[in-house]
Amino acid sequence: MSLTLQRIPAFSSALFCRCSSKSFQRHCSRISSKKVRVSDALSSEETGANVRIQGWVRSVRPQKDNLFLHLNDGSSLQPLQVVASSHLNTRDLTFGCAVDITGTLEKSPSKRQNVELHAQHIKVVGECNPVDFPFKIKERHSLEYVRQFPHLRCRTNAFSSLLRIRSEATAAIQSFFRDNGYVQIHTPVITSNDCEGAGELFQVEVGSNDPNPHFFSVPAYLTVSGQLHLEVMAGAFSAAYTFGPTFRAENSQSRRHLAEFYMVEAEIAFTESLEDLMKVMEDLFKAATEHVLSSCAEDVELFHKYTAPGRRAIDILKSSSQNFTFSTEWGCDLQTEHEKFLVKHCGNVPVFVINYPYELKPFYARDNQDQPNHTAAAVDLLVPGVGELCGGSLREERLELLSQRLAQAGLADTYAWYLQLREFGSVPHGGFGMGFERYLLCILGLHNIKDVIPFARFSHSCLL
Ligand code: 4AD
Repeated sequence: MSLTLQRIPAFSSALFCRCSSKSFQRHCSRISSKKVRVSDALSSEETGANVRIQGWVRSVRPQKDNLFLHLNDGSSLQPLQVVASSHLNTRDLTFGCAVDITGTLEKSPSKRQNVELHAQHIKVVGECNPVDFPFKIKERHSLEYVRQFPHLRCRTNAFSSLLRIRSEATAAIQSFFRDNGYVQIHTPVITSNDCEGAGELFQVEVGSNDPNPHFFSVPAYLTVSGQLHLEVMAGAFSAAYTFGPTFRAENSQSRRHLAEFYMVEAEIAFTESLEDLMKVMEDLFKAATEHVLSSCAEDVELFHKYTAPGRRAIDILKSSSQNFTFSTEWGCDLQTEHEKFLVKHCGNVPVFVINYPYELKPFYARDNQDQPNHTAAAVDLLVPGVGELCGGSLREERLELLSQRLAQAGLADTYAWYLQLREFGSVPHGGFGMGFERYLLCILGLHNIKDVIPFARFSHSCLL
């Protein structure tokens, strides 16, 4: 008992001493304030609440008595206005610095926002020298300029909007498939097959110092498509999909190719018509786009208002020329210039092109057995400004025809397992892949695929 009595006063006095210091008061105020995100603060109906907000300063306006800041934490395009007494201004409170602010949310007298934060304490967590920082406070930097700083560009308005849109579009695509009864399959990133047969493969090897460089018993590559693995699943699930990173070692200096991109792929069993596939492509596009437009309206508007119009005019001018560089003979693959022309010819709306020359398509495409043209049941969806957005086909489910084609290509042994899928409970099936970055280019009216992926990988690029 006496021990307890002795301890309590000692503890209380220590606590009292610390409470009297200013930093401890600030500490207490931070702890007692509710941490909120900028987007929640902006939509808050409540005023007078004590809050704590952490983020990055997007503008600083010191006036005689007051200091005005704009604060952003990545949760919305619109920043939160912070009003503070000018004595809270410090030299390190600059554009780009990271801050931790406590204060009260109050109704704003300005029409531009509902609420503003009246700051009681401002702590600069991370300084930012505005002279060295590559982005300047009042400048609208071009996407080309911003692209030079892949490690910093998420701090610009345009790129943070893009990343929020990308995140919502990902969620919308997952919801579309889940709501329509598809099973998500995590198809492998490392594989031994070249699904598209184009030889655009990145080979996977262990480090050069490793005594056993052949980790697998066969050559291994990064996947160019999850299709063949989805086809395995189409032997047990009537509808399956995958959405993951995809790799192609092709010349990706162009504005619509990446060496690493994301592909959404669907495989549907018991389907015999390209119309079924086209319906899924269209429904997916519409559902994802409706969700993005409703959940990120401000972010999308930023692109439509400022970024897209100038670009589109250039695209339209370019595609108005009909002197094509590449041949338009039957049997030659469609080039970008042809795709654009077709889209424009149809009134700048998305266009499905079906039944391609049989010899142009990979071994898995279903033979239409038609003459004289001899086509495969393949379909591409072409969209304005981008060209090919989706590529798909019915798959050759007939064992004999598939065996013949693989044998002709010298691939019968490699794809013995794939042939076996046609031996046991084979059904007519088909599917498609949609390039996720091209989808974003299309809905935002952007021009360059490197502007819609967090970290772009393309030929001759430096990697972070
Ligand atoms: O048309 P592709 O090559 O189709 C396939 O890979 C099929 N195996 C898919 C399937 O049926 N499951 O590619 C599909 C889409 C293209 O339409 C394009 O949007 C995108 O993937 N794509 C690329 N996107 C960015 N960079 C690249 N290098 C791309 N290559 C293809």
